[in-house]
Order: sequence, then C-alpha cells, then structure tokens
Amino acid sequence: RRLLGTAGAAGAAGLVAGGAAGAFGAEAVRDAPAALAGVGSATLPFHGTHQAGIAEPAQAHGHLVAFDLAPGADRKAAAALLRRWSATAAELAAGEAPKGDDTGIALDAGPSSLTVTFGFGRSFFDRTGLTAKRPAALEPLPDFTADALDRKRSDGDLWVQIGADDSLVAFHALRLLQKQAAGTARVRWQMNGFNRSPGATARPLTGRNLMGQMDGTNNPKPSDPDFASRVFVPDRDGDWMAGGSYAVVRRIRMLLDSWDHLSLERQEKVIGRRKSDGAPLSGGTETTPVDLTKIEKDGSLAIAGDAHIRVAAPESNRGAAMLRRAFSYHDGFLDDGAPDAGLLFVAWQADPLKGFVPVQRKLDRGDGLSRFLRHEASGLYAVPGGCAPGEYVGQRLLE
Ligand code: HEM
Repeated sequence: RRLLGTAGAAGAAGLVAGGAAGAFGAEAVRDAPAALAGVGSATLPFHGTHQAGIAEPAQAHGHLVAFDLAPGADRKAAAALLRRWSATAAELAAGEAPKGDDTGIALDAGPSSLTVTFGFGRSFFDRTGLTAKRPAALEPLPDFTADALDRKRSDGDLWVQIGADDSLVAFHALRLLQKQAAGTARVRWQMNGFNRSPGATARPLTGRNLMGQMDGTNNPKPSDPDFASRVFVPDRDGDWMAGGSYAVVRRIRMLLDSWDHLSLERQEKVIGRRKSDGAPLSGGTETTPVDLTKIEKDGSLAIAGDAHIRVAAPESNRGAAMLRRAFSYHDGFLDDGAPDAGLLFVAWQADPLKGFVPVQRKLDRGDGLSRFLRHEASGLYAVPGGCAPGEYVGQRLLE
C-alpha cells in the first residue's frame, strides 16, 4: 500500500520546477497548483479492520508518546478524547487539513505515509472503572536481568505511535494530539525515532539498525498464512480487542562503544547473519531460510549456540513469534562520551505470552547480543482493532 522507490519521481519533479522557474519566474511556480509527487503523496488509510502502523513498513520518522489521564478524567472523558484523536488522525492520514485549530506545521506537505496508532496501558482500566474489561494479556511483563528500567519513561494510561516519512508531518500530528489532550491527559513520556528514508537506497532494502545490521529480515510477513493469527487478536465472543494487537515497547540502549570494538567476524557470529547483506551464516542470501543444524567442516555450528537469531527463533521458543517494527533513536551523548542511542523496539503480537515474553526470557538467559544492550524503558499496551469512518478507536471498549 505504501509507495516505495519514489526518489526518481521526486527528482524529476524538482527538474520540471527548475525549468519552469526559468520561463515564468519563481512567483508563478510557487503559485501554480502542482500535484504532490513522491514521498509526500503516499497515504495509508486510517480506517480499517486493524489500526494502521502495524503491518506496514516502519516510516522514516517516529514518535512514541504515552499519556496519563488527568485527575478526575473518567471513562466519558477518555471516550471523548479518543473520538477527537481518531477524527484528527483520519484527516491527517488522508492529507486533509484538520478541522478546528491548526498549527500550520505541515501546511505544504502531503500525508507522507502518516499513521497514528492508539493503545491502552494496564493502568487505564482502573482509572476509568473498566477493570473488569482489562485483558489478561496486560499482566505486567516479568523482570529481566538486562533491565535497567526508568519507570518514569515506562508504562502510561494511553499510548500513541506516530510514523511518517516526513519529520514535520510526524511532529504536526504529535503536537495536535498533545494539544487536544489538554485537560484530559498529560504526556508521561515521549521518544523520537527514525529509520532510513524511502528512496535513500537504490532499491527498497530491509532497514539497518545503529549496529549496522539489517533488521527485520525474518519478521512474519503479511503474506504468510499465519501472519494474522500471530499478530492480531482473533474475533472471539465479541471481544472488544478483536482485530487488535498487543504492543511491547522497549527502549533498548546499544552499548555501541563496546560493540564497535568487535571484529566484523565476531559481530556476525553474535547475530548469526552477515552484516553486508543480511545472509544467514548457514549460507545463501538474506531470504534463504536459516539452517540452525548446519555444521561447519571444523565441527562447529554455522549459527553459534548463543547467536541472536538462534536464541530468538520461533523454532527455539515453541513457535513464539512477533512482528518487530522498530525505530532507531539517538538522544545525544552521555557524560562518558557514549552515544545515548539504540532501538525503540516495538513488537506486535496477538498474545505477549506467546510472543515477546518467552523470547525475551530466553535472550536474557544468555544470547550473545544481550551483553551489548540495556533495556531502559518498557511498556505493554492493548491496541484495539481499527475503526470505520464515523467511529473511533476503542469505541467497543468505551461506549
Ligand atoms: C532477529 C537485532 C532485540 C527478537 C534479529 C536480527 C537482528 C536483530 C540483526 C536478524 C535479522 C532479522 O531477522 O530481523 C536486534 C537488536 C536488538 C534486538 C539490535 C536490540 C537492540 C530483540 C528483542 C527481541 C528480538 C528484545 C525479542 C524479545 C528477534 C527475533 C528475530 C530477531 C524473533 C528473528 C529470529 C529468526 O527467526 O530468525 N534481531 N534484536 N530481538 N530478533 Fe532481534
């Protein structure tokens, strides 16, 4: 659904504009209505069975933000907020000017693949008198030894994920939603992330993380027969979460100074894939299925016993799988000079107890990568299914 590889079109549009400026003068060009081309024109519909921002490729810019309800804000106030937020998100995703107050931040840009995804944290249900409707899947995540969690940057009553291929479009959405929350909810924490821009590579490629690896190769794909059952909550007994998903959010700092000291060979062994093209060390290309049983001539395992892709694979975890849809982050440098950078890891699954939890338990017990990571913040959110025009996200829970 997303337009990819549009750099050529954008470049061509630039050339045409340049030529026209010569003939008619800059003013005429600025006033002439021009169709949006390339990255800006791509739209991802807000309405649908599932919320947007889950199955689509992650955009170049992301904001993750959690809100806490204001004292006294009840279920009705939360419902009104979700109604306002949904209406605005639908307008912005369609490239329409938002009704009501606008800031003008994205006036001249197209929707740029904007998605806005809404979720509820565990605490939301007590605050709104809906404890009886809280899904069992929102049980707090267990503690892991690699955790160094900042509780102030974790959890929250409401969670919003914003993604767009233009940073002003993404910030515009963030700012509007924050303003609309006034009086009902306050920002608890907010994080900014990024990915490669569409068109930056000669052909669409799996994105790289800040360790330089291709990241996302062995994700469940929408074309897989079991994609929906792994990622989305089934429609059972009128469950208000039907068509929804559970998002595990982890701010994972990478210990990049230590990582960058490893030789390329060591780095590749830690993951189990080649850095250059993402091919598994058992052979083939990026998309060749991993052979966890392959033995090298010297008798060693081609994919080491503690390689990240062995320890995390569904085969090692009774089929547990999740859709990883992350953003990288960089918030400057710490006092010791180390980058405050890593992954805003967002994992989507139908049930966190059959996705993130068992896999992270296993990674925590000793995968080669964990030594280079610190989990600094954490959240688990119930992300309801999508809504139809005229409805709002979470309506089945809140009305
Ligand atoms: C695979 C990096 C954290 C679960 C991979 C791959 C890389 C990678 C490079 C191989 C390519 C791919 O299939 O995507 C990282 C980094 C992390 C991180 C840099 C932290 C900063 C996690 C966490 C989990 C996880 C916390 C889950 C608890 C997985 C899974 C796979 C994978 C399930 C696919 C394994 C397979 O079936 O081949 N990761 N990862 N990763 N990772 Fe991670």
